[in-house]
Amino acid sequence: MIVSNWKMNGTKADIELWINEVSNKIEYKTEVNCVICPPSCYLDSTRSFITKINSPVQLGSQEIDSTHQGALTGGINGQMLNDFSTEFVLIGHSEQRHYLNEDGVSLRAKLDSAIDSGISVIFCIGEPSEVYSNGDTKNFLTNQLDILNSEDLANITIAYEPIWAIGTGLSAKTTYIEDTHGFIKNHLKKRLKNKKVSVVYGGSVKLDNAEEILSSDSVDGLLIGGASLDSETFSKIYNLS
Ligand code: PGA
Repeated sequence: MIVSNWKMNGTKADIELWINEVSNKIEYKTEVNCVICPPSCYLDSTRSFITKINSPVQLGSQEIDSTHQGALTGGINGQMLNDFSTEFVLIGHSEQRHYLNEDGVSLRAKLDSAIDSGISVIFCIGEPSEVYSNGDTKNFLTNQLDILNSEDLANITIAYEPIWAIGTGLSAKTTYIEDTHGFIKNHLKKRLKNKKVSVVYGGSVKLDNAEEILSSDSVDGLLIGGASLDSETFSKIYNLS
């Protein structure tokens, strides 16, 4: 799975141009999902454009709220996402954990909302720099993974994104990524009796480091922010997978 996370960037026209170019440039493989997560206000038009040009690009939302109906100004629920056939949703991104004060309780409610709505989850976890420097990453990730249960795993991809690597230009070293992904997989296997969970990496992925990161057996894909906005770069990275 190669995912483009647009965060709060772009216009409707930018997104349509991107989808058009990516659809022409990638050598699409059914086993490697190619996903765009546009800003929420463009989900509907993005779905329409994907359908119009019969693109292999799949649609992901950057947001889902936990309540199914009701009074939540600005909220977006699973039913709404289903209205335009949203296939994936990001939950637990570090920017939302930080700026929106998301915690285990609110994230669990979002997971339930997505899973009840039949939307596949990309569940983001990752440690801040002080945890990384103290060598405490595995304990930190264990706590973040604690809210998952075995029923979730059929519908979840884990995105490991060390916070110190997001948007900083400082990607984690491949050996560190490999070790951490191996830890996540083994931990979930032991705790939830799960055979296999996909783990993708995110954090300053660029064209010049993507090939090396993807070459690791424990890396099942990439979640890319800044570098993915350029259709040429994103397509080249997809074609490496
Ligand atoms: P970045 O962002 O590729 O710009 O570091 C990744 C992410 O936040 O998903």
